Amino acid sequence: MFAFVALAMIIVQCTGKSSKEKYPISTTPGGPPDPLLVKKLYDNKCAICHGFDGRQQYAGAKDLGASTLSRDLVITQIADGKGTMPPQKDVLGPEQIAALADFVLTLRSK
Ligand code: HEC
Repeated sequence: MFAFVALAMIIVQCTGKSSKEKYPISTTPGGPPDPLLVKKLYDNKCAICHGFDGRQQYAGAKDLGASTLSRDLVITQIADGKGTMPPQKDVLGPEQIAALADFVLTLRSK
């Protein structure tokens, strides 16, 4: 058991910080999302396919500016992924996913 815990700790240390820690969305723990930090999270996790403005359609990605999905469905799709879009539910926390969904909605009709 001790060996297992030690091994798990070594693995965690080698893989470095998780995306949950790497991309905080608030300047105070548990505080309200900071738009600049949410944008940084989007730029790192989503822009490679969707582009910084959401309009790029790399790897079959949809134009987020033209999306008509409800906020709930956006949250579900970010969490579970779809097609080549990778699921984020094991990588990001629910508050990060919700903040990304709110950001995605701001990309519409611009
Ligand atoms: C590897 C490329 C890739 C990455 C990275 C990616 N997506 Fe996607 N995204 C896609 C693809 C492909 C689709 C279309 C899926 C389908 O409908 O078959 C899509 C669709 C979507 C949709 C639905 C649009 C609609 O109206 O159907 C949303 C919302 C979305 N992505 C948000 C995000 C967010 C937020 C992130 C960052 C956490 C992200 N995506 C990261 C490839 C990607």
